[in-house]
Amino acid sequence: MSRSVSLIIASLLLASPVLAQDKKAPPRSYGIGQVATPAQIAGWDIDVRPDGAGAPPGKGSVKDGEKIYLDRCAACHGEFGESAGRWPQLAQGKGTLASNDPVKTVGSYFPYLSSVFDYVRRAMPFGDAQSLSNDELYAVVAFVLNLNDIVDDKFVLSKETWSQVKMPNENGFYDDDREKSEKAFWNSNPCMKDCRPPVKITGHAAVIDVTPEDKTPRKGGVE
Ligand code: HEC
Repeated sequence: MSRSVSLIIASLLLASPVLAQDKKAPPRSYGIGQVATPAQIAGWDIDVRPDGAGAPPGKGSVKDGEKIYLDRCAACHGEFGESAGRWPQLAQGKGTLASNDPVKTVGSYFPYLSSVFDYVRRAMPFGDAQSLSNDELYAVVAFVLNLNDIVDDKFVLSKETWSQVKMPNENGFYDDDREKSEKAFWNSNPCMKDCRPPVKITGHAAVIDVTPEDKTPRKGGVE
C-alpha cells in the first residue's frame, strides 16, 4: 500500500466515529444511574414562588407556631427571634440596613413570604432539615412573621391567606443597575493605573495599640 493511501485510510478511520456521532448524536450512556421516579422528583421540587405557587397544602396558626418555635427553633434563634449567642437573629433590625451595623432579619430584609417559607422548608431546623410537617411549617413561619409584627396573633397561614402577607422590605430590592450606575467603570478603556487618589495613613497599629475606636453612632443594632 502506498504511503498516501494508508494515510487516507488512517484519517478516515480516525474521523469516522466523530462523524457518525455528529450525525446521529445519540445521548452518551455510561450504563449507570436510573431514571428518577416522580416521587423522587417531588422530593426535590419544593420551591415556592412569591405569589404562593408551589406552596404545599396545609395551614398553621401563630398560636400553634409558638409552641413549635419554642421547641424546635428558640434554642438557636432566641425566644423572640433575638438570637441566642451567635446564631442568626430572625426579628427586629428594621431601619438598620443602610446603617453601619445592618441587622438582616426576616422582618428587616427578606423580600417575600416565599423567601422565608422556602428557607425554613428546605433547611430548618438546622441539623434536622425537612423534619417539619406542612402544617407545622405553616405554623412556625406564621409565628416568625408575628415576631416581626407582620401578622397579628390570630393569623392562620395557608395558601389561601398567602397574599395577605406583605413583607416590609419588598421594595428594598431593585434590578441590577450596574450597567448604568457604574457606567464610567464599564467602558472599553478602563483605568488600569493610579485610578484612586493615594491612600492616606492616619495611624499605625503599633502606636494605637488597640482596635481604633469607631466614632460613628451605632443605629438600631442589637449588641
Ligand atoms: C441548631 C441551631 C438552629 C435551629 C434549631 C434552627 N436554626 Fe434557623 N438557622 C440556623 C443557622 C446556623 C442559620 C444560618 C444558616 C446559613 O446561613 O447557612 C439559620 C438560618 C435561619 C433563617 C434565615 C435567617 C437569615 O436571616 O438568613 C431562618 C428564617 C431560620 N433559620 C428559621 C428557623 C426556624 C423557623 C427554626 C425552627 C423550625 C430554626 N431556624 C431552627 C440555626 C438554627
